[in-house]
Amino acid sequence: MIKNICCIGAGYVGGPTMAVIAQKCPHIKVTVVDLNENRIAAWNDADVENIPIYEPGLSTVVAEARGRNLFFSTDVDKAIDEADMIFISVNTPTKTYGVGKGMAADLKYIELCARQIARVAKNDKIVVEKSTLPVRTASAIKEILEHTGNGVQFQILSNPEFLAEGTAIADLFAPDRVLIGGDTTVEGQKAIQTLVDVYAHWVPKDKILTTNVWSSELSKLTANAFLAQRVSSINSLSELCEKTGADVNEVAKAIGLDSRIGSKFLKASVGFGGSCFQKDILNLVYIAKSYGLHEVADYWEQVIIMNDHQKRRFATNIIKTLYNTVSGKNITFLGWAFKKDTNDTRESAAIYVADDLLSEQAIIRVYDPKVSEDQIQYDLNYLATRSSVQNAQGVQVLQDPYEACKDAHAIAVLTEWDEFKTYDWQRIYDGMLKPAFVFDGRNLLNRSELEAIGFTYYAIGN
Ligand code: NAD
Ligand code: UDX
Repeated sequence: MIKNICCIGAGYVGGPTMAVIAQKCPHIKVTVVDLNENRIAAWNDADVENIPIYEPGLSTVVAEARGRNLFFSTDVDKAIDEADMIFISVNTPTKTYGVGKGMAADLKYIELCARQIARVAKNDKIVVEKSTLPVRTASAIKEILEHTGNGVQFQILSNPEFLAEGTAIADLFAPDRVLIGGDTTVEGQKAIQTLVDVYAHWVPKDKILTTNVWSSELSKLTANAFLAQRVSSINSLSELCEKTGADVNEVAKAIGLDSRIGSKFLKASVGFGGSCFQKDILNLVYIAKSYGLHEVADYWEQVIIMNDHQKRRFATNIIKTLYNTVSGKNITFLGWAFKKDTNDTRESAAIYVADDLLSEQAIIRVYDPKVSEDQIQYDLNYLATRSSVQNAQGVQVLQDPYEACKDAHAIAVLTEWDEFKTYDWQRIYDGMLKPAFVFDGRNLLNRSELEAIGFTYYAIGN
C-alpha cells in the first residue's frame, strides 16, 4: 500500500490532481514539488484564495487537505527520497530549437526528472508519467533509471490526465475514465494494481482502464487530437455558413442530436487555445512523420491549419468591417484566457487576434476577470512577432469592463466568461463611439438584444 506520494511539477495538472488525491486519500502523504519558488510560495499562501491557479472548487479542496496530508515544497530531493510513488507532472512544451523545432515535444524537463530520481532514490519506486508524452517515452525513462547502478528497482506507469481546465475539480472527482498503462510482466501488473488502489478510493472500478504502456501514452495524444478535430471541423463549417446563410449554431445542434456524433465540442469559436491541443497534435504529426507516415501527418496537421485560419479570419473581419483600417482605433477585448473559468492564457486565441490588430496599429484595451496585466504583457512579448515593444505600448489592461469599453470603436469577445452576458449592454453602448460594433468570437451574446440597442453585431458562423 502506498503511504507517500511525490509529484514533480506544481502546475495546472500537478496541483489540482494531487490536491484531489490528498483529499480523497487522507492516509497518503502527498508532497507536490517544483523548481519555481514563487509558484510554491503561492500554493502555500496563508490566504487560500491566492493559490497560483484559478480553478472553480480548487481552493476548497486545498484548504481541506493542505497541512494535513498535502504539502507544497521546493525540496525535490527530499520528496523523491521519501516517496513510494512519484508522479512526473512537468511541462512538455513544443520544442523551440533544434531537430523537431516547432513540432516535437521538448522532453528535457522529463529527462531532468528521471535523472534526479535516479540520483536520489535509495529504495524501489513506482514512477508515474502524468505529463502528456510521445508514445514510447517510458522506454527512455526506464533506460535512464536503470543505469543508476545502485540496485533500485523502478516500475514505470503511464497515467495520462484527461482533466480540462475550468472544470478540473469536477473532472477529477468524476472522471469519464482513469487510464493506467504498465508493463505486462508480473511486477508491472503489481505496480498497475497499486495505482488502481489509489484511484479506487473514489473512482468506480469500471471506470479504471488498464492497458499496456504504449496504448496509454498514445491514447492521450489521440484523445486531444480527436477533440481538437471536432472544433476545427465545426469552425470550418462556420465559414461556409457565413457564405450561405446557414447558422452554425443550428447546424451544430442538428448534427449533435445524432447520437453517433454527440453534442459536445461542436461550439464554433474564434479558434481553440490552451496548452494542450496544438502541442499534442503537432507532436502526433511529428511522430507520424518520423515513421514515414506522411498522409497520417498531413491529415492531423490540417486541424492546426484550420485553427490558425479561424483566428486570422476573425481579426481580418474586424479590420474589414471597420472600413479597412483600425489604425488608431480603440478595440476592447472582453476576455484574454483561452476559455472561461481559468486564468491560463497559453495559446489563447486572444493573443493572436491582438497581434494581428496591433500590426495594423489598433489600440487594444483588455478586460479579463482573472488574468493579470503582467500575464497579458508577457504573452505578447513571448509571441515577439513584429515588435514586442510596440505590442506592450499598444495594449492597456483595465480592471473595470465599463471603463474598458468606454470610447471604443468595437468590442471583441474572446473568452466565454459568464459575467459578460449579465452586463448592462445599454450602458456599454452609450459609452462607445458610433457606429458601435461587437465581434463575438464565442457566440456568447444575444444578437436580438444587442441589435435592438443599436449595436452592429457579428458572430462566428451566422
Ligand atoms: P505547467 O507548466 O502548469 O506546470 C509544470 C510545472 O513543472 C511548472 O511549474 C515547472 O516549474 C515545473 N517543473 C518543470 N521541470 C521541473 C523539474 N525538473 N523539477 C521540478 N519542477 C519542474 O504545466 P501543466 O499544464 O500542469 O502540464 C503538465 C503536463 O500535463 C504536460 O505534459 C501537459 O501536456 C499535461 N496535461 C496538461 C493539461 C492541462 O489542461 N494543462 C491536461 C492534461 C495533461
Ligand atoms: C483539453 C482536453 O479537453 C482535456 O481532456 C485534456 O486533458 C487537456 O486539453 P483544455 O485545453 O483545458 O483541455 O480545454 P478544452 O475544454 O478542451 O478547450 C480547449 C479549447 O477549445 C478552448 O480554447 C475552448 O474554448 C475551445 N473549444 C472547446 C471550442 O472552441 N469549442 C468547443 O466546442 C470546445
